[in-house]
Amino acid sequence: MNNDTRSILFEPVNIGKLELSNRIVMAPMTRGFSPNGIPGQNVIDYYRRRAEGGVGLIITEGTWIPHWSSSNNPNVPDFFGDEALAGWKRVADAVHAAGSKIMPQLWHVGQFGSAGSPNAPEGAPKTRQIGPSGMIGELGTPVEMLDVPATQKDIDEVSEAYVVAAESAQHLGFDGVEIHAAHGYLLDQFFWSATNLRDDKYGGATLVERARIALDIVREMRRRTGPEFPIVMRISQWKQQDYAARLAETPEELGSFVGPLADAGVDIFHCSQRRFWEGEFGTDMNVAGWVKKLSGKPSITVGSVTLQQDMLETFAGERNVSSSNIGKLCELLARGDFDLVAIGRALIADSEWAEKVHRHADSELKIFSLEMLGGLE
Ligand code: FNR
Repeated sequence: MNNDTRSILFEPVNIGKLELSNRIVMAPMTRGFSPNGIPGQNVIDYYRRRAEGGVGLIITEGTWIPHWSSSNNPNVPDFFGDEALAGWKRVADAVHAAGSKIMPQLWHVGQFGSAGSPNAPEGAPKTRQIGPSGMIGELGTPVEMLDVPATQKDIDEVSEAYVVAAESAQHLGFDGVEIHAAHGYLLDQFFWSATNLRDDKYGGATLVERARIALDIVREMRRRTGPEFPIVMRISQWKQQDYAARLAETPEELGSFVGPLADAGVDIFHCSQRRFWEGEFGTDMNVAGWVKKLSGKPSITVGSVTLQQDMLETFAGERNVSSSNIGKLCELLARGDFDLVAIGRALIADSEWAEKVHRHADSELKIFSLEMLGGLE
């Protein structure tokens, strides 16, 4: 392809007050190099390298919201507490100094913590996790009851924790937040009919009824952070419990979900899929395209950019091979299907990914392999 076509990836874009130097986003990726939840110098350097490498917007690895039930891993960074927040401020400052923007991803695992949260304060229940109906919903097995369903008090406290985390991000000078509402974690456990069997106001037969908790969180986050603080929400059809699961079966159903979320205050939808080129609802437009069309909001696509293997194939042990799919990506970007493109594994492999792609040095890109997860280069 010629330079002109590829250059669309490197065009600046403004989304509200968010001014991005290009369309390239670092996808949120858990790394687990923050002992006791504190991001240190290695984490600062890791994100700074991606900013120096030309990424327009960094979305950090998932970070724990301030509630005892949010976490299942003490090496994943907290987004609360003086020490962790001081570490995050240094990350944000380093990224800004390198000319990039950054948002933390706010995460609660829901029923995915089996032995209680490492963040649990003294006296908190150590063997309980919070989820809509006390179950994970694993593929191929009967949905198993693990815990009691979240009480109203649980829901109020967890919802408040998302909002407090967003306020902290704003206070520290981050450029917005991303709410992790994908992949079968807490908020997605509410969205998905297999894991939300509630008959109160947080459950219901329709997707939009089951989205009640997220709608309330976004409204309150918008109210407390003001009209201009960017709120991104990450959503996905697939669940890690069930890769074939679908949140929405039709465009109408998807629209009934993302429309109210947009009205509540979501500025950008990050639509997680495994391969960006795969169309949704039997069309050639992917889920980021559909969400943009149905919500009227900008969207981020993701999935196997410059790689032949998707994330699951990688984790199943397949060796990654590079792909020249940038042409297809730019074609869809130019068609207006989405506004931004998130890069996952390829940016772990090569902090200079953006810069190399910009100068058509694709053959110089380092290719991701699982061993790379052993360090924070
Ligand atoms: C991920 N992914 C992910 N997603 C998310 O929303 N929050 C997270 O914390 C993580 N953690 C994570 C860790 C690692 C090691 C990988 C490889 C992936 C998913 C990620 O954001 C992205 O959607 C996928 O990797 C697909 O993009 P690529 O890798 O195909 O470009």
